[in-house]
Amino acid sequence: MSMSVLGVLLDSCSVPHYIFKAAIQEDTLLVPKENLKGVQSLILRNRELPYDILVVKYEGNYTALQMLCTHNDVALSFAGNKLICNGHGSEFDLQGKVLREPAARQLTSYRTSIERDNLVIHLKG
Ligand code: FES
Repeated sequence: MSMSVLGVLLDSCSVPHYIFKAAIQEDTLLVPKENLKGVQSLILRNRELPYDILVVKYEGNYTALQMLCTHNDVALSFAGNKLICNGHGSEFDLQGKVLREPAARQLTSYRTSIERDNLVIHLKG
């Protein structure tokens, strides 16, 4: 499995985060735990996925959210403590809950687990 860190540190927010280029392996994305040290949020990207996935560490657990607006499937932008849709202005918190309509449904989330030395994002349940 080949993975590499793009190491792009975005400066538009208060929380440090990276874009991590991860390969899909059997309907999962793997993130080596060493890439999570000291990081509160991480954007996962793969050319096979039509959207990014935001991983957020919250109270010791990891949440993985599809960065796609539930109003009309527009890609979301990370803005530090929330996700913003440039389509019609919806906003979501980092747990995927709607902060601002017109989106009515929370973001799609993925189950996560720690297996060996990796954080695993389960793309199919
Ligand atoms: S597509 Fe996101 S608010 Fe309409």
